[in-house]
Amino acid sequence: MLIQTYISGTSTVNIAASVESAVAAGRAPSGAQLPPVRTLAAHLGVAPATVAAAYRLLQDRGVVVADGRRGTRVRPAPPISLPAEAPLPPGVRDLAEGNPDLTLLPDLAAAMRRVKVEQRLYSDADLNDPDLLALAREQFRADRVPNEHVSVVSGALDGIERVAREHLRPGDRVAVEDPCFTGVLDLLHAQSLVAVPVPVDDEGMIPGELRRALRSASAVIVTPRAQNPTGAAHSPRRARELRTVLAARRDVLVIEDDHAGPVAGANYITLIDRQRERWAVVRSVSKSLGPDLRVALLASDAQTHARVEGRQTLGIRWVSHLLQRLVVAASRDRTPSRASRVYAERRHALLRALAAHGIAAHGRSGLNVWIPVPEEHTVVQALLHAGWGVKAGERYRLTSPPAIRVTTATLTPRDAQRFADDLARVLAPKRRTTGV
Ligand SMILES: Cc1ncc(COP(=O)(O)O)c(C=O)c1O
Repeated sequence: MLIQTYISGTSTVNIAASVESAVAAGRAPSGAQLPPVRTLAAHLGVAPATVAAAYRLLQDRGVVVADGRRGTRVRPAPPISLPAEAPLPPGVRDLAEGNPDLTLLPDLAAAMRRVKVEQRLYSDADLNDPDLLALAREQFRADRVPNEHVSVVSGALDGIERVAREHLRPGDRVAVEDPCFTGVLDLLHAQSLVAVPVPVDDEGMIPGELRRALRSASAVIVTPRAQNPTGAAHSPRRARELRTVLAARRDVLVIEDDHAGPVAGANYITLIDRQRERWAVVRSVSKSLGPDLRVALLASDAQTHARVEGRQTLGIRWVSHLLQRLVVAASRDRTPSRASRVYAERRHALLRALAAHGIAAHGRSGLNVWIPVPEEHTVVQALLHAGWGVKAGERYRLTSPPAIRVTTATLTPRDAQRFADDLARVLAPKRRTTGV
């Protein structure tokens, strides 16, 4: 029992603070179990109610999660800065991180040379760069997203967080894809919002499941293409079905996450129409121009726009015009269409190589392939021994079955073949035992 080593204090606040510092220092890692309330109360010489209140405080802050009979545990990705994760061992190929291929991102130094670099003052008129807004409006119009109200935020997750904060309150329920991008799940937890799983197949959310989720959820976060981790992308038919489900609930806040933008490898098929009261579409440049730009374009209804921009002007005020102009300059590059093609080739090469081994997998669009496996951690470990670093699906899944996520952004067709051969070897004994 770790009680003696990291929990101290005699008041609710001090006890909670000691747990929080232990998490920040890496002494209480993700998943670590906190002692039962009574045990800790006896150890510290305080009333059980004091410890219970400390645990509630930590839960409200998103640091721990009460996990039924399994007790109270440290949450993965609590909203506290943590020590860096251990890197993959030397020689292991990183297919875990969901990054774009560096060599397929535009040359930012060249783009920067085309940017007019100048000082701007607080009082300068335009909050956002007119050329960037025009570019965004044109793209949204082409994708049938209403484009009257567009603002600039610092990435897709920043846009999602800002919109959620303006419309949702702690305890509100939000329908999300299952499996779902961990960044979205962590953000919901950090805002005390409750994720309601909606299973996805290759074409997106299952309409009947969305209908069911909306009995309790007042918002939905959906990824029309490059769904992370499954690669799902809306087909025209699925989008029509989902629109029908949503049409019965005009009050629901719909947030669309287009994190991969033009390199997704699928058309953007929106669920938004002008009848919806509250909505937002956030389109990031992270995958097409580079994650370090921290820029995304946010189209939304008038009220959401006013709230998000109003709040932004109180805090960060605006996204630097240097960045906004750099995005305009880099967008004139032709790199994204080539990158999109290469990502699609790499994804398809892995899917084909897996299919040749009889291994079913998903990856209709985006930078990842999702492979159902009987047991995630044994497969992840065995692949690590074979020189491949991939992600266990656990953190992405709410109720969906086990799988691993493989980022194919840098995986050439030849490497895809080697990977598929290795995975087939790892899975083979399992198949033999389950096959009889
Ligand atoms: C579904 C999804 N949303 C958002 C993001 C993060 O985007 P950004 O860098 O624009 O915040 C990612 C990153 O991979 C993602 O997969």
